[in-house]
Order: sequence, then C-alpha cells, then structure tokens
Amino acid sequence: MNRDLIICLLDTDRHDRDAFDCGELALNEYLQKTASQHLKKGVANTYILVNSAESNRIMGFFTLSFLEVDLSEVPAKYGKKLPRSHLPAVKLARLAIDKSCQGKNYGRLLLVDAMHRVAAAIRNTAGVVGLFVDAKNQSVAAFYEKFGFIPLRDNSLSLMIPQQTILGLFPDKT
Ligand SMILES: CC(C)(COP(=O)(O)OP(=O)(O)OC[C@H]1O[C@@H](n2cnc3c(N)ncnc32)[C@H](O)[C@@H]1OP(=O)(O)O)[C@@H](O)C(=O)NCCC(=O)NCCS
Repeated sequence: MNRDLIICLLDTDRHDRDAFDCGELALNEYLQKTASQHLKKGVANTYILVNSAESNRIMGFFTLSFLEVDLSEVPAKYGKKLPRSHLPAVKLARLAIDKSCQGKNYGRLLLVDAMHRVAAAIRNTAGVVGLFVDAKNQSVAAFYEKFGFIPLRDNSLSLMIPQQTILGLFPDKT
C-alpha cells in the first residue's frame, strides 16, 4: 500500500464527511448522518481512507458489523458439520469510494483491508463463517466476485466469502 494512504476509524472531529460523494445518495447519507452514531454505540465500525497530505478529505469508506446467518446461507462446500442456525458472520455493510477517486484501485484496497480485519478477528478474537455483503446491482456483484465472493443463489445480489478463503489470503497469522 502507498505509504501516504491511511485507513483508520472515522473521527468526526478530523474527517470532512460533507464533501464526500460516491454518487449514491444513501451511501453518502450513511457516512454523513449515521456512521458516527453507529460507531459511538458500538454496533458498526466505519473505516475511512485518507491521504496523509490531505488527511481530512475522505477518499473512501467501509463499514463492518456482526450478524447471524443460517446454514442455508453458507455454500454447501463450506458449511459441513456446522450448526443449522445462529452462525456468526461479519457484514460488509457499506463500501464506497468518492467519485474523484473511483477506478484507481481504492475499492480493491478497502475490500482487501476489510478481509484482513476479518482474518485477524478470526485468529485473535472470535470465529465467523465468513464476510457477507449485499451488492447494489449485478455490476457491483461482479466487483465482489472478482475478489472471491460467492453469490448465495443464482444471480443473487447477496454474496459471501468464506472464512477458509479469507484465511488463505492472509496466511501470515496477522
Ligand atoms: C464499486 C466501488 C466501491 C468500486 O471501487 P473502485 O475504487 O472504483 O474500484 P477499483 O478501482 O478498486 O476496481 C477494482 C477492480 O474492480 C472492477 N470494478 C470496479 N467497479 C466495478 C463495478 N461497478 N462493476 C464491476 N467491476 C468493477 C475494476 O474494473 C477493477 O478490475 P480489474 O482488477 O480487472 O482492473 C466504487 O466504484 C463505488 O464506490 N461506487 C459507488 C458506490 C457503490 O456502488 N458501492 C457498492 C455498494 S454495494
């Protein structure tokens, strides 16, 4: 990763949320109005991408929270010998890059960082079956599939990447 880039928790005293525009109103509004409340209440963490030279300007963000899934939401190959319900998982609840920064691999960078955090959580904190996401449309679903996410059903906009795949991507025990 470029050493000038920083990924850290949203801090409303330092980061300018109002200037952020990814082209999707709902995502902009989540960052501007809700993300900080969720962070303070401890129900979802929003991480932002900034450049150290302009460290108040949010280039992109993602949000992680926990959820429970049923075994039917885990591809059969990865669900063997697991309980039928109440399986712990992580949700990539939001991912967005500012319009001025799209197409420059920052979405990839944030997605890989999110997966790295999940790998570290599995190894150091608590196990989960995988990382789940609801894509906004088929094009964005294709973006996630590029990184190993599996649609839960044919043409589904709900996808997951199994624990086994994530740990395989980060074998260094971080
Ligand atoms: C979707 C989004 C996060 C992608 O981030 P990005 O920084 O523009 O994407 P990257 O430059 O990291 O692209 C990485 C790869 O994914 C591909 N890709 C990017 N956006 C894509 C899309 N919408 N559909 C399919 N593939 C896509 C790129 O072509 C690139 O492929 P390559 O490895 O073959 O070169 C970003 O465009 C965005 O924030 N869009 C608006 C908000 C949104 O839709 N968020 C997702 C909500 S589910």
